[in-house]
Amino acid sequence: MKVLVTREIPEAGLRRLEGFDVTVLSEEPPERADLLEAVRGAHGILSVLTEKIDAEVLDAAGEDLEVVANMAVGYDNIDVEAAEERGVAVTNTPGVLDETTADTAFMLLLAAARRLGEGERLIRSGNWHAWGPKQLTGPDVWGKTLGIIGFGRIGQAVAWRAKGFGMEVLYTARSRKEDAERELDAKLRDLDDLLRESDFVSIHTPLTDETHHLIGEKEFSLMKPTAVLVNTSRGPVVDEAALAEALAQKRIFAAGLDVYEEEPKVHSKFLELENVVLAPHIGSASIETRNRMAEIAAQNLRAVLEGREPENPVEG
Ligand code: NAP
Ligand code: GLV
Repeated sequence: MKVLVTREIPEAGLRRLEGFDVTVLSEEPPERADLLEAVRGAHGILSVLTEKIDAEVLDAAGEDLEVVANMAVGYDNIDVEAAEERGVAVTNTPGVLDETTADTAFMLLLAAARRLGEGERLIRSGNWHAWGPKQLTGPDVWGKTLGIIGFGRIGQAVAWRAKGFGMEVLYTARSRKEDAERELDAKLRDLDDLLRESDFVSIHTPLTDETHHLIGEKEFSLMKPTAVLVNTSRGPVVDEAALAEALAQKRIFAAGLDVYEEEPKVHSKFLELENVVLAPHIGSASIETRNRMAEIAAQNLRAVLEGREPENPVEG
């Protein structure tokens, strides 16, 4: 059976594909034409989030295609409905990356508050001349209020970290989380109140039609001028132009971003602003977690091709 792996993935994942006729397409994101060509006759596709797997790709693969196994928890790069219509299973890698991605969110939160990017640039430019009583001061993190938008696996892992910093946790989600409220003393708020009350806001929703530009100009106007926004979910959940404007006008204090509206493009204003910390979509990028994600994606793919239920089916 033919398996197309769209990008080079950790060896641990490839080992789980032994016995299949495996093609690894490219190290960098493949050209669309190359993807459409390479996918022909595949029984399984192991994809990553840089590849858009839509009806055109599914049709190019042809009738033998049984499964698209995404090496990511987010699956907004896959047209799940089109896959369902064609009887193609879709899988993802939930759970395994929660702690690593929560670490990344907290890293960005701390770095944006305490101006780490600016400090690093100062040293590297050779312009740091002395310790300064008023140099690079930013708001304390400990003891403040963190608002978490999207209180699922990763959002709650972030909340546990916040408890270690003595923070109060507010959250918003589609449904109430009574267990987490008890365990974390987290408090449910509607989005507007969460934005008004929080010193830090961290986004952890999937990208859907509902969450596209969930945070824009109106939402920035509700936030405290001292607030810090962190986004490790998906770029289009935040209106980037509105965020760039809010940062430039100091309507909020700072932002820490791991994801962008049109990756790998980054809004040009962000590159000029001191008060935004920029990471290149490395939320889950620990060695251990990427190995496990590759293994899980491969196991899901193998399960479908061997006629078993995959561990992590995605439903449209
Ligand atoms: P999850 O467990 O499904 O949690 C998602 C949360 O978002 C849920 O609490 C859900 O509410 C909430 N939500 C969904 N739609 C909403 C809306 N319209 N308004 C408010 N809340 C909404 O997902 P997860 O595993 O934590 O992952 C979240 C996302 O993080 C992924 O989809 C992916 O895009 C992103 N991610 C990024 C990286 C990275 O490298 N930067 C790594 C991993 C994941 P309910 O619980 O009420 O349904
Ligand atoms: C990464 O962004 C993921 O969704 O796993």
